[in-house]
Amino acid sequence: MYSTSKAVLALAVAVFAAPAVAGVAQGANGVVASRSPLASDVGIEVMKAGGNAVDAAVAVGFALAVTYPSAGNLGGGGFMVVRLANGDIVANDHRETAPAQASRDMYLDQKGELVAGLSTASHLAVGVPGTVAGLLDALAAYGTLPREAVLAPAVKLAKDGFPLPADLAAQFERLRERFAQYPASLRQFTKPGDKPYQVGDTFRQADLAATLERIAKNGRASFYGGRNADLIVAEMHRSNGLITHQDLMTYRSVWRAPIRATYRGYEILSMPPPSSGGALLAQMLNMLEPFDIGAMGYGEPATVHLMVEAERRAYADRAEHLGDPDFYDVPLAMLTAKDYARERFSDFDPDLATRSELIGAGTLWPEESPETTHVSVIDRAGNAVAYTTTLNHGYGSKIVVDGAGFLLNNEMDDFSAKENTANTYGLIGREANAIGPRKRMLSSMTPTIVLKDGEVVFVTGSPGGSTIITTVLQVVVNVIDHGMDLDEAVAAPRFHHQWLPDRVVFEQGALSPETQSTLAGLGHVNLAEIAFRIGDANSAVRIGDTLIGVADPRNPGGAAGF
Ligand code: DON
Repeated sequence: MYSTSKAVLALAVAVFAAPAVAGVAQGANGVVASRSPLASDVGIEVMKAGGNAVDAAVAVGFALAVTYPSAGNLGGGGFMVVRLANGDIVANDHRETAPAQASRDMYLDQKGELVAGLSTASHLAVGVPGTVAGLLDALAAYGTLPREAVLAPAVKLAKDGFPLPADLAAQFERLRERFAQYPASLRQFTKPGDKPYQVGDTFRQADLAATLERIAKNGRASFYGGRNADLIVAEMHRSNGLITHQDLMTYRSVWRAPIRATYRGYEILSMPPPSSGGALLAQMLNMLEPFDIGAMGYGEPATVHLMVEAERRAYADRAEHLGDPDFYDVPLAMLTAKDYARERFSDFDPDLATRSELIGAGTLWPEESPETTHVSVIDRAGNAVAYTTTLNHGYGSKIVVDGAGFLLNNEMDDFSAKENTANTYGLIGREANAIGPRKRMLSSMTPTIVLKDGEVVFVTGSPGGSTIITTVLQVVVNVIDHGMDLDEAVAAPRFHHQWLPDRVVFEQGALSPETQSTLAGLGHVNLAEIAFRIGDANSAVRIGDTLIGVADPRNPGGAAGF
């Protein structure tokens, strides 16, 4: 566990002075960890110009729309948890909403069956974008720099371009056929003359630069109204899309009270509904708190069994109880209460796996790369921002708004389109997360800030659909229970259970062969090592006066500090 004693501090700083892990950066004034080194540098540039962590997070958010189009976005949504140096704690919800014409059964055919692809790969999959409203609202409320200054780096990156990194080049190539369905998408992600981009080519996005410039100059009205709204609505009319001018004009980000939980003397701040992230994180930590996980050990069968059983119960509650709180009475106080966790976990048997009820068809795992992205920022003054943003799938619906240069989300798939029927992430839901006009679809995004004695200790969060919450849980447990430094806590291999499907998936190295056979003996018969990596937890920590950013080594992200 992080100790504030001077010796430990000196050691930690010395260790981090020569980072062993790529993507670790430190500084005394500010740090940023994100999926894109260029975007992280933008955050540092903004703080060097006198901005605070909120200015930096907003600038990084806009920059990611340019440098990491798979998940960074103008046409998606996100959640931002902010803890200000003065102690104020707020959360901005800029989740997409269902268009006003959306209806409960909009993805079902006449027999009541889900129509494949409708909620993920069509104009009908698009929720009303929230990102621009949310980022501008956060900037206006808690930033210190003018809008033009905060957007300038993103405008420049879009206009002048940047050398295309290998991961983006590979993504463009892989998705070429999907983009080819939409002329504007193909134009955006291939070179003039329909030639594929190569690594190192300068990637310019002129339409996106113009859109960003308009936002910089005229604010939200230039995105939710005027020419941009016309372009979005025209894009909808190209197919079966539902978003209208009215949907755009009436979109609002919402300030919400963050989830506040305690865990072994730490305070955990995270995202409330319409994300399930903070509620489930609190619930799982409450279930785990009575057990001495540190003594049980990382990766040991007893620890994994305990955590899986907590995950199973929490995700079962998610399916029943969680949805947009403006439309459904979410029993939040109950779900996050320590008493409730004690009662809910009272049937935990250290020697036997519980069987998830065999309902629902929760067997799907994403066949295409799912992408969301998380940014952590801490500044010298003690402001901290945890920001997670997404288009849902990588490149969202794959639809670029013709003439505006940004991708639209396919977030509608996060609703429960049919009771007890799995979405892309194998998650099921019911009434609480049924589709409704203007309703926000339930999320798993879990931007999280951890405090000790009223001071920021670390900031974390992750992409990964349903695995986001268990990824954040593991980072928190690795730091607080297993005493890992943040870079180790982030790098440590992960496992995941989500009630349905009833199986434990794990990254290579997360469960030793012995642990696997012990778990099988306890009744965890469905154990699956998966080829893809779970999560991408770009995080940041404060140790005394030293700030350290940690980009998750699973992906070529970047931490930056000064
Ligand atoms: O809001 C959610 O929970 C999902 N739309 C997040 C998607 C995601 O994390 C995909 N990334 N890996």
